[in-house]
Amino acid sequence: MQLRDFKARKVTDDVMWVGAIDWDRRIFDELIPLPDGTSYNSYLIRGSKHTALIDTVDPAKTEVMLSRIKSTGIEKIDYIIANHAEQDHSGSIPIVIEQHKEAKVVVTEKCKGMLCDLLHIDAERMLVVKDGDTIDLGGLTLQFIHFPWVHWPETMLTWLPERAVLFSCDLFGSHLATGDLFADSQADVLLGAKRYYAEIMMPFRSNINKQLAKINDLEISYIAPSHGPIFNIPNFITDAYLDWVSSPPRNLVVVPYISMHDSTRQMVEYFVDGMARRGICTEQINLGDGDIGKLAMLLVDAATVVVGSPMVLMGAHPKVVYAAYLLNILRPKLLHLSILGSFGWGGKLVEQLLGVMPNIKAEVLPPVLCKGAPKADDFAAIDALVAAISERHAALSNKLTRKS
Ligand code: FEO
Repeated sequence: MQLRDFKARKVTDDVMWVGAIDWDRRIFDELIPLPDGTSYNSYLIRGSKHTALIDTVDPAKTEVMLSRIKSTGIEKIDYIIANHAEQDHSGSIPIVIEQHKEAKVVVTEKCKGMLCDLLHIDAERMLVVKDGDTIDLGGLTLQFIHFPWVHWPETMLTWLPERAVLFSCDLFGSHLATGDLFADSQADVLLGAKRYYAEIMMPFRSNINKQLAKINDLEISYIAPSHGPIFNIPNFITDAYLDWVSSPPRNLVVVPYISMHDSTRQMVEYFVDGMARRGICTEQINLGDGDIGKLAMLLVDAATVVVGSPMVLMGAHPKVVYAAYLLNILRPKLLHLSILGSFGWGGKLVEQLLGVMPNIKAEVLPPVLCKGAPKADDFAAIDALVAAISERHAALSNKLTRKS
């Protein structure tokens, strides 16, 4: 294979970035929109005795990674650390172990099974490490920190104490294609990281909150995730995560909706305007544009969601059902939930939507459904909903103020 000429980039002494930037990718898992592309970060660490590769790249970018590795002059890789079995990080391992016949793939026990199943990697090529185990590279040590469910059950982080680098794989990552190797403290990185957290990590926030204690005492200089820039100001991202996973919801109402013939839109806009008059930040999200990431990001902080849908064939609009299903699996911190909608002759819109959200343990405030276009009594019912939500948000704001 003729390799194009890509170069490794220095992270810190003995640590090089040999990953790939995917500027043009627009969807991940055929589910998650990538408006800003993504990257697959792979890192090469050179000890005096051994060399290790931390994670690889998506199979579509194998050639780029191999070219960057070649540019370092390193000819022998002894260990390939598979922090996570998902193919955007493990997918190039088969080619690397083909080229480096003596290399061992370092994994958790669960990851071993997954790499056998997903990539048909021979179990004999794998070295299972327990939580806290270390590998001596010669002057440099790799320590493995088991960190399951961020976001698969087999995940671990790798700590390089002599350089104070934490290789965190998906945790702290962002789907962001950029030429910047480091994040410094740029707002767009934080936005990308929040989008990533919302779409991938939010369902596991309780688990992450508990596990963050495992890295509390590390004196970290760099957090090197497997997507997006490296954090050379680690608190920038760890503080953000702590807030996302553990802070109470904010004074924010989110209204994901669809309207077919304007009736639902009239209800939604009247509701949003009413909330604004009460001084409560309310975001109206038209589900027709297809970017569920925007909705997911708002759900990180929202205290209330009001779903808007017309009736279609006796139920909610399919795009609203899809959004409700996502709401259910993303498990945000919501405290209150309600529904606005319009119907022509009948149906089970409310029952259907609540039925797809069993994980949402929020208080359900009386939905407002109207026949055809909304009339005076429908707007009065929306006024009552605005009042009920405002009352609850006022109580929440008082609680937040007392805490701060
Ligand atoms: Fe970036 Fe879970 O893979």
